Amino acid sequence: MAREEDDFGSNKAPEGAHGSGQVGHVSVLLKEAIDFLAIRRGGSYIDATLGLGGHSLEIAKRLGPQGHLIGFDKDTQALELARKRLTQVNVGEQPRITLLHSSYADIAQHGPPTGADGLLADLGVSSLQFGDPARGFSFQAEGPLDMRMDPQGERTADQVVNHMREEDLANVIYEFGEERRSRRIARAIVRARPIRNTAHLAQVISAAFRPMKHGERIHPATRTFQAIRIFVNRELDDLRALLKAAPGVLKPGGRLVIISFHSLEDRIVKDALRDGAKAGVYRLLTKKPVEAGEEEIDRNPRSRSAKLRAAERTDNSASR
Ligand SMILES: C[S@@+](CC[C@H](N)C(=O)[O-])C[C@H]1O[C@@H](n2cnc3c(N)ncnc32)[C@H](O)[C@@H]1O
Repeated sequence: MAREEDDFGSNKAPEGAHGSGQVGHVSVLLKEAIDFLAIRRGGSYIDATLGLGGHSLEIAKRLGPQGHLIGFDKDTQALELARKRLTQVNVGEQPRITLLHSSYADIAQHGPPTGADGLLADLGVSSLQFGDPARGFSFQAEGPLDMRMDPQGERTADQVVNHMREEDLANVIYEFGEERRSRRIARAIVRARPIRNTAHLAQVISAAFRPMKHGERIHPATRTFQAIRIFVNRELDDLRALLKAAPGVLKPGGRLVIISFHSLEDRIVKDALRDGAKAGVYRLLTKKPVEAGEEEIDRNPRSRSAKLRAAERTDNSASR
């Protein structure tokens, strides 16, 4: 019998998947997510956040030809790469695969007609998006003020940074970045307009702070960049919509697994699962969130802030 770790193949997007100079995306809490999904051969599963297809590939390998995998991503580039990666499933073992360029907020319209046996969401941005300066997510490289996961999305970082009223900008930075110095930062940004690119934005934010102390871990622009990204992509609204739809998409016994990366997301997930459990819609599988172990954090620093929560849909059909 194959050893457990053999079942997981390579937990990294294939070399060259992202063009030159870009980093691969290492799936976070991969084994834990697959274990909580308790994948049933021949079942129907939804990956709400395909990304580079790391989690999806492990799901697809376990489904067999009678199974069905439905994957969502807002990012057309991610969809293409995930599609290629999913061809790694052995011939004869490939499940039916449906990949959708859509927000998971619309999951109720696209779920399997008879309900899903499992739904996974691994929230946030992928390393593909973060590592490509042209997408504008990173304050560590010079790129356009974009930050859209969906290249056709209507909001861009430029609209927020160069056109929003100072008070609204401060509110975005406070609400979505949990940044205490939001007013000072918003004032500095408005004074420095027009902001040319991500590097210029990071520089303006840094200048509004005292100089960084040696060894300080978090860059002064971290929270503001997070806030703008969340606002541009309506991340929290989408997450609320996903959680609202999930009980109706899952079959009784179906599993919901959500991996979040910051406290705003985790609070929303925690509250939705707790309320669902109180209403008899879910049985909680994680009392406390599951976090990455030291070995995973060493291998993949992005996993440091990951929190996985899981629940099972009960047989309470009144709430479907
Ligand atoms: C952390 S990555 C997923 C990585 C993936 N699990 C893997 O192992 O390769 C998150 C992905 O979700 C996508 N995403 C974020 N919000 C979304 C939404 N509302 N609807 C659809 N896709 C979304 C992003 O574009 C990104 O590709």
